Amino acid sequence: MAAISDRPPAADAPLAGNLPRGPNAQAAPAGSPPSPSAPARRATGSAPASVGPVHPGWLRVTHWLNALAVVIMVASGWRIYNASPLFDFTFPNGATLGGWLGGALQWHFAGMWLLLVNGLLYLGLNLTTGRLARKFFPVGPRGVLADLGAALRGKLSHADPRHYNQVQRLAYLFVIADITVLVLSGLVLWKSVQFDLLRTLLGGYEFARRIHFFAMALLVAFVAVHLAMVALVPRSLIAMIRGK
Ligand code: HEM
Ligand code: HEM
Repeated sequence: MAAISDRPPAADAPLAGNLPRGPNAQAAPAGSPPSPSAPARRATGSAPASVGPVHPGWLRVTHWLNALAVVIMVASGWRIYNASPLFDFTFPNGATLGGWLGGALQWHFAGMWLLLVNGLLYLGLNLTTGRLARKFFPVGPRGVLADLGAALRGKLSHADPRHYNQVQRLAYLFVIADITVLVLSGLVLWKSVQFDLLRTLLGGYEFARRIHFFAMALLVAFVAVHLAMVALVPRSLIAMIRGK
């Protein structure tokens, strides 16, 4: 989409196909040597290179395993819901997993281990490497509003795929918290008697069921927006697959 810039607004150096065009633009005199960094930038056609992959291997593996686990949890959860709907609607059976209530519960509990173990690995590595603090902080209302305004005006730069803007940071931190709520409320629904204190903290079994459902709805909303953003900046998808 043209509205979202793929280059920094203030070009620090001419890139291939992005030569200066303003009133002060000057053609280099014939025969003059190019600036030392120019050939490298022309070759990559990208912002100045940093060393190492954009996303480390462990991050890519845990991201895709998490995406798989979330699909399993949502689709099997919808089938569980259909067996005893909380509200006035059901999900189309074609979009669910498990075939029947018993099968869906089996998928839900199998997916639960993938979601939990993979999620703990992701969080553990993010915390111990200091990546969490580096990538997701600082984040605050002023920065989020400023970046949101810039995005809506098509002025938000995506030149550096290593850098998350504050709207991304907030969205990713939100979904991490949302999945944590899903796991905690899920534990109450799964082993209600054993997780007695947690059940009380979440307002009882019936309330935990509602928390679980609304956290699922927020997760699905996040994924919809996430996929739309990835479609707008396809380069980010390549980086999440290949690392660079
Ligand atoms: C991404 C994570 C998850 C999603 C999207 C999800 C989604 C859902 C949905 C939509 C339902 C049906 C809601 C209802 O009708 O009450 C459900 C039910 C259930 N979930 Fe999850 N869930 C997730 C994680 C978990 C985890 C980690 C556990 C266990 C620790 C769990 C345990 C359960 C149980 C036991 C039920 C059946 C509740 C009942 O009988 O009403 N869920 N889940
Ligand atoms: C098939 C579906 C998905 C695709 C194509 C996808 C794609 C991507 C891409 C390209 C990025 C990098 C964004 C960037 O560099 O600007 C990313 C990051 C991220 N995605 Fe997804 N994603 C998918 C599913 C999910 C799901 C289901 C979740 C969680 C519910 C999720 C959570 C995240 C998080 C938390 C990050 C930031 C990771 C980090 O840097 O630690 N994604 N995703």
